[in-house]
Amino acid sequence: MSDDLLRRIQVHGSVPAHIAVIMDGNGRWAKGRALPRPLGHHAGMRAVREVIQGCLDARVGVLSLFAFSQENWQRPAGEIGALMRLLEEYIARELGNLREKGVTVRILGDIERLAPGARNAVERVMAETAGGGELALNLCISYSSRAEIARAARLLADEVAAGRLEPADIDEQAVARRLYTAPWPDPDLLIRTSGEMRISNFLLWQLAYAELYVTPVLWPDFTRRHLFEAILEFQRRDRRFGRVTA
Ligand code: FPP
Repeated sequence: MSDDLLRRIQVHGSVPAHIAVIMDGNGRWAKGRALPRPLGHHAGMRAVREVIQGCLDARVGVLSLFAFSQENWQRPAGEIGALMRLLEEYIARELGNLREKGVTVRILGDIERLAPGARNAVERVMAETAGGGELALNLCISYSSRAEIARAARLLADEVAAGRLEPADIDEQAVARRLYTAPWPDPDLLIRTSGEMRISNFLLWQLAYAELYVTPVLWPDFTRRHLFEAILEFQRRDRRFGRVTA
């Protein structure tokens, strides 16, 4: 059982306020079973449920999941269609449960590119889970970090052009306030599954001081126990934020 790990996390006391996850390895999971890739994504939904429950149990306040990047639009149309249907299916199946558990869902990314069915589903889940106080769940969909930073620069430029902002007032906070993640603290911990040592255009600004945790486990095999192992490893780290330890 993973409850022994949860108790150890609680004894330590310091839990990441925000965990970000690059959910990788669905394709390899499917390939290893001679299944089509979309079945790997389908299996990945179970792991999404596991990490949400794990974050609720450990009292992590914010969970950001990288579900679909802007670069993923270049995948074969069949796989994109399957991912969009999966998103709709996930929302239809989980909406009640998420609301009941106090999970507020936000979508981070360019949702205007989503197919109408998926777009309606994400707008519905955002509206119907608003105000849940237990966990903020950010689903990063059609998301790319460089595009997010360019968008923030555009918003700042518009405000300068309109005379509402002085260029001299553009500091780090001004940029951070125009990112999709403005309401939340930066991630303390980034988890990436499937062993790849990359950030893949995910939360580049926000991950400046995050602890990185890469596990060889493929995303569909990732469980609540794996999440707790990552949090325990985080609790052993010495975070210095560029300073020296006393
Ligand atoms: C990366 O694996 C994973 C994705 C591109 C999709 C992630 C989607 C899910 C986990 C589905 C459920 C999520 C929600 C929120 C409904 P990959 O295809 O790049 O794997 P590979 O590197 O092994 O090919």
